[in-house]
Amino acid sequence: MRIDILTLFPAVAAIPLGESMIGKAQQRGLVTIQAHNLRDWARDKHRTTDDAPYGGSQGMVMKCEPVFAAVEELRAQELERRMANGSDGASADGSPQVTSRVLYMTPGGRRFDQKMAAEHALPGAHLIVLCGHYEGIDQRIIDHLVDDEISIGDYVLTNGALAAAVFVDAVVRLLPGVLGDENSAPDDSFASGLIEGPQYTRPAEFRGWRVPEVLLSGNHGAIARWRREQAMEKTRRVRPDLLAE
Ligand code: ADE
Repeated sequence: MRIDILTLFPAVAAIPLGESMIGKAQQRGLVTIQAHNLRDWARDKHRTTDDAPYGGSQGMVMKCEPVFAAVEELRAQELERRMANGSDGASADGSPQVTSRVLYMTPGGRRFDQKMAAEHALPGAHLIVLCGHYEGIDQRIIDHLVDDEISIGDYVLTNGALAAAVFVDAVVRLLPGVLGDENSAPDDSFASGLIEGPQYTRPAEFRGWRVPEVLLSGNHGAIARWRREQAMEKTRRVRPDLLAE
């Protein structure tokens, strides 16, 4: 999988993705993540990427030219890489041609969740993640370049680079082989539609607080039942909307 992030703040997106499991996944060649500075595609000497809105209103709007130039170049590079690998545009896992998908991070997008993360976690895919800034971007970018608009939640960040890092982390950890233990992704909160229940480790007693006896019992059936009950109880308490779904 290859992910290109287009942002005015590449370090904000790249640094968290170089750490921990996602950093290791990059080192092991399971994914290539590159954060690019959108200004590199600006043509003028001030490297302008925004301009005042038509019709007049507050703030600045991201311009078409650098974004189209960047996406077109990144798409062409990806196609070249695939041709060089002899795969004529087909994905690395042998599935039919995967076109580069362009995702725009914006609080006005579809709300991101675990299901969307799983839909994007395709080993052969190429994603271009465009980060918003200023008051928005020219609508022609959304109409003619963007495949999906994604929000990571109902709050507004100062720019989309942090949102891109969140999105990419959630997607990449679902790629086969990224997590150390192949079983841990299906156990995640949300994967089952429930929030994960409590976990304990040694010691069995700390400051008088004992680990629930059932976990020490060795009875796997009873432990599985207890975990399910705990997950139900926690979901009912903190996220009743998930049970309604
Ligand atoms: N950019 C600013 N806020 C955002 C959000 N909540 N989700 C995605 N991109 C954003």
